Amino acid sequence: MPSLLVSALMGLTGFGLTSFMAPKLNSAFSQSAQSPVSTSDIASGCPATTIASCRNSSAVNNLCCFESPGGLLLQTQFWDTNPATGPSDSWTIHGLWPDNCDSTFIEDCDPSRDYTDIAGLLTAQGGADTLSYMNTYWKNDPDDGTDEEFWEHEWATHGTCYSTLEPTCLPNGSPTGAEAVAFFETVVKLFQTLPTYTWLANQGITPAEGTTHTLASLTDALKKESGFVPALSCEGKALDTISWYFNVEGSLIDGTFVPIDAPEKGTCPTSGIEYLPKDEDDTDSGAKTPKKRPSRRAKRSQKHKKGIASHSEL
Ligand SMILES: *[C@@H]1O[C@H](CO)[C@@H](O)[C@H](O)[C@H]1NC(C)=O
Repeated sequence: MPSLLVSALMGLTGFGLTSFMAPKLNSAFSQSAQSPVSTSDIASGCPATTIASCRNSSAVNNLCCFESPGGLLLQTQFWDTNPATGPSDSWTIHGLWPDNCDSTFIEDCDPSRDYTDIAGLLTAQGGADTLSYMNTYWKNDPDDGTDEEFWEHEWATHGTCYSTLEPTCLPNGSPTGAEAVAFFETVVKLFQTLPTYTWLANQGITPAEGTTHTLASLTDALKKESGFVPALSCEGKALDTISWYFNVEGSLIDGTFVPIDAPEKGTCPTSGIEYLPKDEDDTDSGAKTPKKRPSRRAKRSQKHKKGIASHSEL
């Protein structure tokens, strides 16, 4: 069944996402099954109806209300089992990446806004609930560094590339870093509408040792639940990343996410995919998966080499 809770709350079909960020729906959103997240008061001032990113047929001038060039958005999530991160019954947040409409992408767009102390920014600017949620659901691989370092990286690498989050797009008098606060709040709210673990479980797919899945069975299950096809990536045969794709109408601050099918496949093989439990005791894991995957930072710097590249090349 489709995402019934979200659909019922939003009065929509499929994802129930198409209007979830409209201000008037904030109260409905906060009733969702996961922790309610309050938002800071910042507003984009963009018109209620705008064309979705990547769907324009002629040039759009106001890039404060039209995301460009990064109008193909990926809400990426991790399923980390070695070491495990986050709750055993939830995927965790990787980020929200602004790919170009053709799936190439740019990164590290404004080093002058590579903020430190994201936790402090959130706390100071009305994002304490968002921060609390991030502390549970936006986890670094502990071997790679702290959660704060991961958040700083995601902001600097991807967040600074959003045209609609340029400081000049914000209301006059906005504090320094307000656009980063808006970014983290938006990522958390979008992630909360994408309960990958629950969707798979609803279709009878739960993590287990010794069971394998075809790519089609996983994507079909997720499409049944969400209405859309995500991209699945694996470390070897082990499922470890999902990308949910969107265009966005209006600003990242308060725009409307429009779900779309993944325009390209992830790295998982077509069959033999393992969906491993998170709750393995690390101390007795000597026999299994001795090879640790490359660190997140290493994966990221591969991307950096080209500056513009496609995720499918990684
Ligand atoms: C859409 O708008 C952007 C921003 O103005 C522009 O760069 C792009 O060429 C436009 N796309 C089309 C198909 O006109």
